[in-house]
Amino acid sequence: MNRKYRKVIIAGNWKMNKLATDAKPFVEELRAAMPKDKTCETVLCVPFPIIPAMARAMRDSRIAYGAQDVSEHASGAYTGEVSAAMLANLKVKYCIVGHSERRQYHGETDSAVNVKAKALLDEGVTPIICVGESLEQREKELTSEFVAYQVKAALAGMDAKTVKRCVIAYEPIWAIGTGRTASAEQAQEVCHEIRGVIRELYDARIARAVSILYGGSMNAKNCAELLAQPDIDGGLIGGASLKTEDFAKIISATEEE
Ligand code: PGA
Repeated sequence: MNRKYRKVIIAGNWKMNKLATDAKPFVEELRAAMPKDKTCETVLCVPFPIIPAMARAMRDSRIAYGAQDVSEHASGAYTGEVSAAMLANLKVKYCIVGHSERRQYHGETDSAVNVKAKALLDEGVTPIICVGESLEQREKELTSEFVAYQVKAALAGMDAKTVKRCVIAYEPIWAIGTGRTASAEQAQEVCHEIRGVIRELYDARIARAVSILYGGSMNAKNCAELLAQPDIDGGLIGGASLKTEDFAKIISATEEE
């Protein structure tokens, strides 16, 4: 983490779990368990139907809520889609784009990730852009090349000022939901490379300002070591964000330096 130059962010990704009625008790429990004077940004990215209940539950708290996907389109005949303007209207602060589950099961392409990120930025919502290699790519030593490609594709056509408002999440696919976390060294290495790609595309000042998160089986036990790495500015947390105690421990770990 490097608080001097960038925001530390702990973002939960509930995926397709829980109900709107779970929002209030969850937030109450989380608030009781987490440090009162936390300095990191805390976000819960929840399914669309849970957003209004989250908004109510988080009123007067310093927790933010987010979404997990957004339409590429602004409005119109796109049955089932949710636009960036609709999210902004509900005061959604963050939205995940390009999660590997959406790339894998819903055909989300690199160009769609780019369009979605821009649509969010236009509405003042911060995109959390996910990138990460498969196990096969890692074994073939293609990680650096592939992740650099994904980052460049996601940021294509954005100017420096816009990129500064993006968050990148490095999530190796083989570590997601598997209980197999990347080692702190592996995660740091790729997050450092991602910062290098941003530096190459823009400049050192911009690269220094972008928060880069690690995701993939981050939990209460392994978070401290991951968060201690200089280029890891927080976490995108799936499984462990469903339990208030575990999520609160991860938030607390950002305060221990
Ligand atoms: P996990 O999920 O923490 O359950 O591995 C992370 C993610 O998919 O964002």
